[in-house]
Amino acid sequence: MKPLEPIRYDYSGLIASKDAPPCVKQTGLVEADLQWLAPRLDAVRQEMAENLTTFRRGLPVPEEMQPMDAGFVDLPERLLDEERPLLDQIMAAGDRLAKEVDRVLVIGIGGSYMGARALFEACGHPYHNELSRQRRGGRPRMYFEGNNLDNDAVQGLLDLVEGSDDWGIIVISKSGGTLEPAVAFRIFFDALRKSCGDDTEKLRRRVIAITGSSGRLRDLATTIGCHDILPIPDGVGGRFSVLSAVGLLPAAVMGLDVGHLLEGAVAMNERFRTAPPGDNPVLDYAGIARLMETRRGATIRILSAWGKGMEGVGLWYDQLLAESLGKNGLGATPLTAVNTRDLHSRGQQHQEGRRDKLITNLVVEKTHREWIALERSDLDQDNLNSLSGKTLPEMLQAACTGTNQAYAEDYRRTATIRLPRLDEGSLGQLFQMLMLATVAEGRLVGINPYGQPGVEAYKKKMNALLRQK
Ligand code: PA5
Repeated sequence: MKPLEPIRYDYSGLIASKDAPPCVKQTGLVEADLQWLAPRLDAVRQEMAENLTTFRRGLPVPEEMQPMDAGFVDLPERLLDEERPLLDQIMAAGDRLAKEVDRVLVIGIGGSYMGARALFEACGHPYHNELSRQRRGGRPRMYFEGNNLDNDAVQGLLDLVEGSDDWGIIVISKSGGTLEPAVAFRIFFDALRKSCGDDTEKLRRRVIAITGSSGRLRDLATTIGCHDILPIPDGVGGRFSVLSAVGLLPAAVMGLDVGHLLEGAVAMNERFRTAPPGDNPVLDYAGIARLMETRRGATIRILSAWGKGMEGVGLWYDQLLAESLGKNGLGATPLTAVNTRDLHSRGQQHQEGRRDKLITNLVVEKTHREWIALERSDLDQDNLNSLSGKTLPEMLQAACTGTNQAYAEDYRRTATIRLPRLDEGSLGQLFQMLMLATVAEGRLVGINPYGQPGVEAYKKKMNALLRQK
């Protein structure tokens, strides 16, 4: 078992000391706010534990609390223990597909693809698909489709795969009825069928479906005779499903350490269950977000990722927060920034715009690769010789520290989530932390974090328009 270094949530920058001037106190939080919060957070934790018991025992759920998709909470423990055969099946299917093909298309939308994409961007080589098979560790190239209705994007991917049979499809839809992935699957499955010709056994091995216990995709995959059809457990909602087959199968295909990912989530569950408010990343994150929103008007929730590999994680969180809490005219608006890139697009507004933002930095302590240092050059027109010897991580660190100092000087204080490294163990912790925190925040606000009734509105209109004679 690899050692697991804990991730940390540091909100000390938001808390004003007793003797701080009023302008500091009025823009951040004070000790009294935290004291007010602590018993409420304990109550929420208790309520979440009861919800899990209700869910697992199949007890009746009061109407106002339905749906109650608490199944994600202990899923990591279950997959490493009583549901180990399912985890082994996921791993075996991923390894098999990885060996048999050179390209894998992950077809899904929303919660059915964003976690896999986050893992791909965070843990993989940034140019994975450009590398030789050997440099990809013998793993296939990965593509994400079925998350739009974009003609030219689909044509572009068809250009890469048509006429060849060394590619496969992972099609993911919990309901099995979402239009975007269904349309993409029909198009790409037809292309694959043509390439496989009479070899129906090959076709069956090329497609893996991940879906709910019933629905159109399950019927289709059964009719095709897919070699592997993997479940999305009942009671695990789409955006809470990254640590089910939905995220784990693509991770296994990529060759990621799925066990370490799950162990990270288990460790976060343990901290959530046992650590007191003030030392509990889940409860602290949810509580601080809530206080900053209600007491300081921070209705915009910015995840400020310091590094390109975390953009996918940020977008995954955007979806999690938006679909879970954007209900009844409430819910903070999430936004991912990637720095230093977005200092040159959003930075102006974060420094001097409306005071309606809670900025949480997402920082990684160790890089995957050796540090690049700036060399001296005989061409010093760019005036960079004065920085020779400085490394890229040192420059990024200076940008991060400088940015946060500049915000603080204008009474715009920030919090930070620190990951020891951008690997499976840290991401397992982070995914679980943010999923639990989203539910905890929902319970604090009185919004059911599960379900997404608002998404149905566009689907109904779109289907009516498409099917009208
Ligand atoms: O979080 C959710 O439940 C949604 O974002 C779904 O994941 C998304 O709508 C896709 O649904 P499905 O997996 O049923 O195709």
